[in-house]
Amino acid sequence: MGRVDGKVALVTGAASGIGRGAAVALAAEGAKVVVTDVDEAGLKETVDIIVKAGGTASAHTQDVTSEERWKEIVAATKDEFGALHILVNNAGIGIGTSIFEMSYEDWQRQQRINVDGVFFGVKHGIPLMAASGGGSVINLSSIAGLQGAPGLAGYCATKGAVRLFSKAVALECAQAQMNVRVNSVHPGIIDTAIWQKIPQGGTSALSSNIIQPGANTIDAHAIATAGAPLGYAGIPADIAAGIVFLASDESRYITGSELVIDGGMTAR
Ligand SMILES: NC(=O)c1ccc[n+]([C@@H]2O[C@H](COP(=O)([O-])OP(=O)(O)OC[C@H]3O[C@@H](n4cnc5c(N)ncnc54)[C@H](O)[C@@H]3O)[C@@H](O)[C@H]2O)c1
Repeated sequence: MGRVDGKVALVTGAASGIGRGAAVALAAEGAKVVVTDVDEAGLKETVDIIVKAGGTASAHTQDVTSEERWKEIVAATKDEFGALHILVNNAGIGIGTSIFEMSYEDWQRQQRINVDGVFFGVKHGIPLMAASGGGSVINLSSIAGLQGAPGLAGYCATKGAVRLFSKAVALECAQAQMNVRVNSVHPGIIDTAIWQKIPQGGTSALSSNIIQPGANTIDAHAIATAGAPLGYAGIPADIAAGIVFLASDESRYITGSELVIDGGMTAR
């Protein structure tokens, strides 16, 4: 008996990293999973992993910044599986640039994906969840939604927004007796492709001693070894374990809360 047997899940940004890990873990615990991303090839790989393991998954390309596309994705989920119980708003980007060098375009792009995308997911996903008898929304924030970091002010602004947005939506759902819980997850340094994409413009003020000279990449392991009390970076499965817990009825009394999975980074 899987921990989320019979439930239908939607995971955004599921072509890579934490989103893929969450989709695979939810499917392994019995959920039917709708996976979405802008990266079609990566999505196909995620579906292959799930199907090979005996799970059920369906893929749709989706840019989370499009409200129209969100409506289509929720409608497609209803058509395919008849319900929605678990929504993982995971798609996100990180732009590591000094705030004094950040273009307004980059600021807005990061806001649109990391914040507007979560807003649309909540706005269009929760009504179907309520109509399905209830469920659990899991929004990906970060330790950057709990603490500031130089060179990541724009990113911190998005992740702080996700943290408090989640709490307010949790209260609104509780007040309306929708039987929908809403929580945020706060990963520390997790070994995914995001670290190869971070310094995307200007001179990054982010841990500049760790950015490899001449390379558009950050060594997540070096940062984690230096900064995480456990001494190493996490892997997507570490975050997926928390997501499965929040998705399952084991967490039925948890809403408006934040789950920190960071190897001790924010304990200091
Ligand atoms: N890796 C970490 O250390 C870490 C730490 C804290 C928080 N997070 C958060 O976890 C989430 C997942 O990050 P990850 O590390 O797996 O990154 P990742 O880059 O491996 O995966 C992110 C996925 O989001 C997709 N995506 C980007 N823009 C999109 C859009 N407009 N519409 C739909 N999909 C889009 C990408 O194609 C990619 O597949 C993000 O919200 C990130 O901010 C990651």
